[in-house]
Amino acid sequence: MTPRRVAILISGRGTNMVALLDAMAADDFPATCAVVLSNRGDAKGLETAASRGLATGVVDHTAYPDRERFEIELHARLLNADADLVCLAGFMRVLTPYLVSKWAGRMLNIHPSLLPAFPGLHTHRRALDARVRIHGCTVHEVTAGVDAGPIVGQAAIPILPGDDPDTLATRVLEAEHGLYPACLKRFVTGAEDPPPSFTSPVYNPGV
Ligand code: GAR
Repeated sequence: MTPRRVAILISGRGTNMVALLDAMAADDFPATCAVVLSNRGDAKGLETAASRGLATGVVDHTAYPDRERFEIELHARLLNADADLVCLAGFMRVLTPYLVSKWAGRMLNIHPSLLPAFPGLHTHRRALDARVRIHGCTVHEVTAGVDAGPIVGQAAIPILPGDDPDTLATRVLEAEHGLYPACLKRFVTGAEDPPPSFTSPVYNPGV
């Protein structure tokens, strides 16, 4: 199949972006990176992407009078890059129905919790406060709700005695790096589910 052209949207360090790019480097991966865009000019991930020879761009949200005007420009950049799909990878802007509707069924997000638990921010602290025993991360399609939308895949990790938000964030992030490329691949190809296990990605057979 012709590889899908994926735009990756970041706001910060971009480790999930790197995980996606590393997966895309394999000859048989069904997607390539069309562009990396950020709403922040100082996002560290932009340098990483540029050092890999990728097209990058900044659409600074503070330069627009409202969210929709910002998204109109973002959408134009995505079209300009000839993107088929969008992967949000630590993109920390809430999207309006304008952009979400333009990319309905073609936009994925990764979130550091087992959704629908703990949407929003500070997920690791909130998971510890709630004393959940199992935490993790989710890749989902983006819909109008914040951190909502059909789940493509999840990876679960146990919460261990002595965990704090930082230790938890480290282990969840490691799980994110395995989960996102696996979910993107499966989203693009519709491949069969691998057998689920506790520490590896667990897939939603409904997609
Ligand atoms: C990741 O943990 C990602 O799940 C989270 O931001 C981090 C970005 O790290 N995203 C969200 O919280 C979105 N709601 P990265 O820049 O190293 O990929």
